[in-house]
Amino acid sequence: MPSETQQDEIPKGEKLYEGKAKVLFQGEEEGTIIQYFKDDATAFNALKKGTITGKGIINNKMTELIMINLERIGIPTHFIKRLNDREQLVQHVEIVPLEVIVRNVIAGSMAKRLGIEEGTPLARPIIEFSLKDDDLGDPLIAEEHVLSLELATDEELSEIFDMTHQINDFLRGLFAGIGIKLIDFKLEYGRIYDEDGIGYRLILADEFSPDNCRLWDIETNKKLDKDRFRHDLGGEVEAYQEVAHRLGITL
Ligand code: TMP
Ligand code: ASP
Repeated sequence: MPSETQQDEIPKGEKLYEGKAKVLFQGEEEGTIIQYFKDDATAFNALKKGTITGKGIINNKMTELIMINLERIGIPTHFIKRLNDREQLVQHVEIVPLEVIVRNVIAGSMAKRLGIEEGTPLARPIIEFSLKDDDLGDPLIAEEHVLSLELATDEELSEIFDMTHQINDFLRGLFAGIGIKLIDFKLEYGRIYDEDGIGYRLILADEFSPDNCRLWDIETNKKLDKDRFRHDLGGEVEAYQEVAHRLGITL
């Protein structure tokens, strides 16, 4: 079980938002936010609720590791630094209201929607979009919806495609190196404005953890992600710990 250290009590500003798995607080410095990672787990748009003990610590440390590695290959991210076991400092962004989903292997909602067996490989990766709206259950939308509803511009969309493919290529390799297949995952992007309030750039935001990706052991296909919780498979705490351990994360 991960041990929790309370050493760094970070002075936090106003609570800005409480989501299903994280709480966001105003950071001390303007333009910064503190992301606090909870152990709360939800599935099926919060119809199912529970706890995965120690998950917040693992997701905080795993997001740190992934964001640092992505920065190294030239992907701009909102990550500034990890503050303690459960908190990290990030840049305040205006979230693009899209869930950007990448699929390398058919699983989850795609398997269900198209009646194709989970685990069927795809000839090439798919990038799909859901509208980020909990009340509507994050409905799948087409690229045309993104543009016509002005959720993102043409230019932003092509940047999102470019960055997302780069991230997928890099992360597939990173996970393959530790005996894990990266089946699918979800990303979120945000806009960070220049001082003039007009110019801006797109950066990767949110988190990367077993909460928002599917990870299968290369040899056995054992699921090492939130699907264990979603589908009552058991062993979710151990699965998250296993991923952390293989990534060399100390808990
Ligand atoms: P899906 O197969 O349920 O559509 O999920 C695709 C990927 O997106 C999977 O890795 C889990 C992740 N995901 C989220 O991070 N948040 C969500 O709300 C949903 C539905 C999926
Ligand atoms: N995160 C979503 C929820 O809370 C969906 C999921 O991950 O399955 O319900």
